[in-house]
Amino acid sequence: MTAKPKVWVSRPLFPDVLARLAEHFDVQAEAIERKHGPDELKARLADVDGALVGLADRVDASVLEGARRLKVVANLGVGHNNLDLDALTRAGVLASNTPEVLTESVADFAWALMLAAARRVGAAERWLRAGQWPGSNMRFDDWLGLDVHGRTLGILGMGRIGQGIARRGFGFDMRVLYHNRTRLPEAVERECHAALVSRDELLRQADFLVLVLPFTPENRHAIGALELSRMKRSAVLVNVARGGIVDDAALAAALRSGQLAAAGLDVFEGEPSVHPDLLSLENVVLSPHIASASEETRRAMANLAVDNVIAALGFGESAGKPPTPLNPAVLSRATSKA
Ligand code: DGY
Repeated sequence: MTAKPKVWVSRPLFPDVLARLAEHFDVQAEAIERKHGPDELKARLADVDGALVGLADRVDASVLEGARRLKVVANLGVGHNNLDLDALTRAGVLASNTPEVLTESVADFAWALMLAAARRVGAAERWLRAGQWPGSNMRFDDWLGLDVHGRTLGILGMGRIGQGIARRGFGFDMRVLYHNRTRLPEAVERECHAALVSRDELLRQADFLVLVLPFTPENRHAIGALELSRMKRSAVLVNVARGGIVDDAALAAALRSGQLAAAGLDVFEGEPSVHPDLLSLENVVLSPHIASASEETRRAMANLAVDNVIAALGFGESAGKPPTPLNPAVLSRATSKA
């Protein structure tokens, strides 16, 4: 009997999802959540045919050295700035991500942050829990926030998630503007009730600016001191994309000085550390990178990553045709790994 291919799973996953892998593979699944450094990643990948990795696992040329059996790396996330796609392609390793299944949950969460930041939900809750609510003596003009309905929603990066955020704006009677590298087809713009404007116009007009850009070297600090200075003082910034797209120190300074009214952040530069100045401010709502973390969506992401591994290693109904490859050229290439 030939040995089963080996698959390494870098993060604890739902047992029933792991069981799907175990039908075909010898599965080595990590039982605790932790970051794997380059040496450990290299050692893990050296001896397996496939791997499921998280956003904290950086897969580059150095960790692929010696991974002679490796055929697929499935990322548990849609963003894939942790994967060096060129290095994976050169090594003949298929990479995949988890698009679409998380679109609506991330769009929901962007709205949760918008609403919470505008209406000061986090600060008000901390105040209540601290026993500071004086009941009927609470002032009529205490805890005043910003209305969301009827305002201008600006979206920077208008992929699927941006479009989901825009569609929700219609229900709040908002004017929706977006900026993107390419203009959306007219039918999609109509469906989203969204109009394309320049980046500068978006900064100047948005009451709520939501960032949904992919992280690329060009997008590093796409929102810094200069951009923040162009925004309305009453504006709210929301980032559900990636840490590093915003200059967190500049943002904290803008929030502190009143240059910007509020922010809602799910992602940070240098996660899991959060800039100390942000931690000390009351006008920012902070969450630990959980925009896609609903029960259904995290399961769907895990299952999609598993589908990719099963198909890439030649099993299941879609053998040889993984559903969401990032470097499909690898599939059509005859490699010595076959
Ligand atoms: C993604 O999929 O890129 C998200 O950030 C993970 O929650």
